[in-house]
Amino acid sequence: MRAALCFIAAAAAAACAAAAGPTPPASCDGAPNDFPISSPTPKLVRSFGGGSRYSMAGTNISVLHLRGSAFEMGQQYGSLMREEIIQLFPDMYTYIDEQIDNFLEKLPESIRKAIEEYGVPAALQITVDATSPYTPQHWFDLINGMSNTSGVNVTDIHRLILFPELVKAACTNIGAWGAATASGTDLLALRALDFGLDKPLNKFPVLLNFHPTDGGASHSVLSWAGFLGTITGMSSSGMAVTEKVWDAYTELQNIVGYPFHFLMQDILWNDVDTDQALSRVASANRTCAIWLGIADRDNDQFRLLHYSYRRVDVYNPKNFPVYPPYHDRFQDLVFVDKHVQPSHHMCLNELMHQYWGNLDAPGAVQVSAVHGTGDLHAAVYDYANDQMVISVTTFVDGSWRPAHASPWFSMDTKWLWDPSNAGRAL
Ligand SMILES: *[C@@H]1O[C@H](CO)[C@@H](O)[C@H](O)[C@H]1NC(C)=O
Ligand SMILES: *[C@@H]1O[C@H](CO)[C@@H](O)[C@H](O)[C@H]1NC(C)=O
Ligand SMILES: *[C@@H]1O[C@H](CO)[C@@H](O)[C@H](O)[C@H]1NC(C)=O
Ligand SMILES: *[C@@H]1O[C@H](CO)[C@@H](O)[C@H](O)[C@H]1NC(C)=O
Repeated sequence: MRAALCFIAAAAAAACAAAAGPTPPASCDGAPNDFPISSPTPKLVRSFGGGSRYSMAGTNISVLHLRGSAFEMGQQYGSLMREEIIQLFPDMYTYIDEQIDNFLEKLPESIRKAIEEYGVPAALQITVDATSPYTPQHWFDLINGMSNTSGVNVTDIHRLILFPELVKAACTNIGAWGAATASGTDLLALRALDFGLDKPLNKFPVLLNFHPTDGGASHSVLSWAGFLGTITGMSSSGMAVTEKVWDAYTELQNIVGYPFHFLMQDILWNDVDTDQALSRVASANRTCAIWLGIADRDNDQFRLLHYSYRRVDVYNPKNFPVYPPYHDRFQDLVFVDKHVQPSHHMCLNELMHQYWGNLDAPGAVQVSAVHGTGDLHAAVYDYANDQMVISVTTFVDGSWRPAHASPWFSMDTKWLWDPSNAGRAL
């Protein structure tokens, strides 16, 4: 409804902003987003094997439908995004090399020493060696398939896609349902990634739709060309995930285990409810310390986890460690803002007071914009309307504009999760 109002009033930005939601709290550093949320029709660009690539007017997001075994989906991905992968990988290696000093302090001793003595590739190789015994086979199949068609060395792919294990991001996670939402029942979640705008990743955003034929559910992952694993995604099984770094964590940082972004995608791929996802988390050899959000459409619930090597805390609205007045307790709503928890910032708590009872996807977009969260990308998982609403950073007038301040796109999950969109003939 708000989006429609904005659309009609698109010429008059002031009228649009007025329709966009309540007055932004003074404690917030973002501004309302006046762009209408649009639903561009994806246009088929090309197909390879069982997979297809689509483009959409008004955005550089490439939409891929991948279908088959893990190896076949890897092959399709590597072929359909080959030019972008070949351009992005060397740029990302250079970028990580230049930026790693900013993350050294948070890294396990062994990794820090390796970086200082032998450089980033060696540290990533240690991560490959430490995680491989705990990595399910389909991840190797995806990597091998991508290498097979892109021509990029398997080792280079494996090392690079593990960089989230070394380099953590701040972010905002919100899960709301029941009394907190406009629909009055269905789950709504926001996942906003704050990772800085100076990334080579910016150029090649992708929305990957996996349609595994060896078991598991069709699922969607917002990512970048050539990357594997999920930090933002939503599944036809009803599961969705969010995460952010758990910055206040001071205990052992483990590297020997199941990469957290592989675990997150495996929840989308294989799990059907919260219990199954929590069992996966409980029995995994966990690595780094993150906040992990697990959304479950069919049970209308969202659990926010403190996830780490030794310890996992599972939070819901009743047991979340609130700290008023910065973070109040709300029925059917859990969230963490973009700052380090416990956060002494009022903004998101004030926004939740404004939106509680009436939160919908256009409202969640405004929360992201007004809180100023989600610079690299952001997504709203809107189960009530079968939509995944996404935004990525855009290049405008010579500089990068944050995703939260850029146009958002509403994607019909019935289309995203339809395997017949993979392997279409032109
Ligand atoms: C790619 O994989 C296929 C099927 O396994 C294999 O026949 C082919 O030789 C591989 N190509 C390259 C370049 O490795
Ligand atoms: C891939 O790269 C690794 C590490 O640089 C190297 O040892 C290996 O020989 C390469 N493999 C191929 C097939 O070129
Ligand atoms: C966790 O690590 C232990 C020790 O290496 C291993 O025995 C166990 O199978 C691992 N668990 C999983 C779920 O990979
Ligand atoms: C899309 O990419 C092109 C080429 O890199 C760039 O000039 C353009 O500004 C990008 N568009 C957006 C919306 O980011």
